[in-house]
Amino acid sequence: MSETILIVGSGAREHAIAIALARSPQHPTLLCFSGARNPGIAALCADYGLGSITNPADVAAFAQQHHTTIAVLGPEAPLAAGVADALWAANIPVVGPTQSLARIESSKAFTRDLLAKYNIPGNPFFQRFESLDGLEAVLAKYPHRHVIKDDGLAGGKGVKVCGDHLHSLDDSLIFCRELIAHGHPFVVEEKIEGEEFSLMSFCDGITLRPMPAVQDHKRAYNGDKGPNTGGMGTYTDADHKLPFLTDADIAAAQAINQQVAAALAKECGAPYKGILYGGFMATKSGVKLIEYNARFGDPESLNLLTLLDTDFVAICRAIVDGTLASLAVTFAPLASVCKYIVPEGYPDTPRKGDVVTLPTDLPSNATLFLSAVDVKDNALIATGSRTVAVVGTAPTITEAEAICERVVQQIPGPFFHRTDIGTEPLIAQRIEHMKAVRSA
Ligand code: AMP
Ligand code: GLY
Repeated sequence: MSETILIVGSGAREHAIAIALARSPQHPTLLCFSGARNPGIAALCADYGLGSITNPADVAAFAQQHHTTIAVLGPEAPLAAGVADALWAANIPVVGPTQSLARIESSKAFTRDLLAKYNIPGNPFFQRFESLDGLEAVLAKYPHRHVIKDDGLAGGKGVKVCGDHLHSLDDSLIFCRELIAHGHPFVVEEKIEGEEFSLMSFCDGITLRPMPAVQDHKRAYNGDKGPNTGGMGTYTDADHKLPFLTDADIAAAQAINQQVAAALAKECGAPYKGILYGGFMATKSGVKLIEYNARFGDPESLNLLTLLDTDFVAICRAIVDGTLASLAVTFAPLASVCKYIVPEGYPDTPRKGDVVTLPTDLPSNATLFLSAVDVKDNALIATGSRTVAVVGTAPTITEAEAICERVVQQIPGPFFHRTDIGTEPLIAQRIEHMKAVRSA
């Protein structure tokens, strides 16, 4: 039976999901349901539904009407809204956890408590607050080394870090007061120092199939300057590790992911079926957990799905059926570099409505992904967020960067991107930083 696969969401991540599914030898029928029409995804789909992706009934109705055999949920919002629950209730298997299991992303305290309860390593000191009671004593313990996090989903705006966003005790108190005034519980954590990396796995509830490690770049400008963004670009290495990580770091992160999947099954009484994304930091005292996400990273998935050798449709089927143990999952032994172009002013005051002109001739080792774009009068128009991403693949990170940069340079207009991601000087800086952290 040929699969009919519904993709929920319409960013570059979902475009990457669509491309990976479309190249399957099974030739699945693809569908998309989202709030916006991504022309890159639409070109690969038999039908495209426009609507609210956080309305479980609407998503399930569209899926049923189109005889969906598997749904793949891209972003976190539908997971947190219980879209997977509604789809399973309609007998439609889902790649993406149910609402209860998605708390691994939607509640920072749930995740920290889970690690603590099941004796899983990786937690820094943390405490959850529902009021300001006891706050000053905790801040006094870590006066210049704390992080404050909105306990719920906040679209990347809910985390403030000492030194980056918080420059005095007053800044911290003001942020906490604001959160409580808006009815948001929060978590205070010890600030940890090191290099961040993402380690995602396909998970059927029992078996995990890990993906190569990836490093994202959250700051908007070269040299890790400027405001935080959804992620400006990412790279992976041909050996599927990262130049600043040891084998022990990777093994430790994988062990945490494995234990978390098992703990989730116990805690929620149901298997986690989807992508389990661990955000880690390699530190002087081993690998620490920064956060979990219940979905593919964006842009991390652009690198990983480009490198994926195994049939992605077979992986999705194995996730929902619980048969990942009998499926080997492999990635091309290549390095990859991904860069986003974004409108001038992104992320705070992005320009909107500029025409995006894409290069007509792409080299075979580059792939283009559309994100926040629309079509008007036959032209692609930027709608004000991360616009287009390019992934280059090659035997080395340096070569992959050159391929990616060459394509990105061919996209004219009032856009910018980070020219430093994946370059030798920046990688050398990461290695040096990690050496300094380990020997501090
Ligand atoms: P999160 O939304 O939890 O990923 O946090 C956003 C960013 O804040 C992370 O990518 C880190 O750079 C930083 N961060 C979060 N928690 C910590 C921590 N405990 N120590 C240091 N940095 C952190
Ligand atoms: N690249 C970070 C994320 O997807 O959350």
